[in-house]
Amino acid sequence: MNEVIEEINRLRKEKNAVILAHNYQIGEIQDLADYVGDSLGLSQEAAATEAELIVFCGVHFMAETASIISPNKKVLIPDLHAGCSLASTINAEQLRDWKQKHPGAVVVSYVNTTAEVKAESDYCVTSSNAVKVVQSIPPEKKILFLPDRFLGAYVEVKTGRQMEIWNGACHVHEKIGDVNFSDAKAAHPNAEFLIHPECGCSSSCMLKAEVYFDCKNVHIFSTEGMIDFVKQSPSNEFVVATETGILHRLKKVKPDASFLPLSENAVCEYMKMITLENLRDSLLYEQYEVKVPDDIAERARTPIERMLKIV
Ligand code: 13P
Ligand code: SF4
Repeated sequence: MNEVIEEINRLRKEKNAVILAHNYQIGEIQDLADYVGDSLGLSQEAAATEAELIVFCGVHFMAETASIISPNKKVLIPDLHAGCSLASTINAEQLRDWKQKHPGAVVVSYVNTTAEVKAESDYCVTSSNAVKVVQSIPPEKKILFLPDRFLGAYVEVKTGRQMEIWNGACHVHEKIGDVNFSDAKAAHPNAEFLIHPECGCSSSCMLKAEVYFDCKNVHIFSTEGMIDFVKQSPSNEFVVATETGILHRLKKVKPDASFLPLSENAVCEYMKMITLENLRDSLLYEQYEVKVPDDIAERARTPIERMLKIV
């Protein structure tokens, strides 16, 4: 076995650490993690673990969320630069200004936000439960949905509800929208199409409702939703519109099936900042701790707890 992996295995045992990895992590990290999943699953796992040390192989907002839910545990991220372009599209001050313009509105924030933004929010959602959370809000309430405009458009279509939507997007998923979806459908007529709701393409396809909803082999899912779908699908051909790291996990779930990325360039450089070497160093030196100041964590906990309750 690779020496670095051996060291990681020795250190995780010695320190009673749990390694959580997002579905976009490199294959080697997914293979050694205690749990691999989507944002919702990772938050649930962080809340449930009895380990004293959590090493989060994902991006910063995910580690922050884990630290807010488990304030007595030490949460580490192997590279502090692992950020998120989508989370960076709105800060707390911008949100406060937006709220002032819409007094009394309910603020629904995607989990891809900083702790400061969560602290200004009423609900947090992930792509797995955004529709359910919005459905649970009384219909007479105005909703400010942030920061992803494509997920927001998807939630509007699914719930039939109009919301104020922040004009943010993820640079990786937005670009997937440049790929000609109809060409891909024509080239793979028998494939099931799995699309993440952050995709630019998801909302352009939705605007052409006949493509999206009348087309029985196009499905919009969170990353873990894609895994669950593939597990139960009789199909052996899938075209996947999200970050390509998920292909490793999908191939493990169904080794004989073919999985094609809708865009090979859909690579999140932030997710890929986590390597075996910096994971080893993270365990060895207990770096880099992600700790949210108490006053912000206190206020951010309520919307996160609401997110964990509505699954
Ligand atoms: P999921 O919650 O679907 O895993 O998505 C997280 C993310 O960052 C997508 O880009
Ligand atoms: Fe953020 Fe996009 Fe990377 Fe997901 S893929 S972590 S939304 S930058």
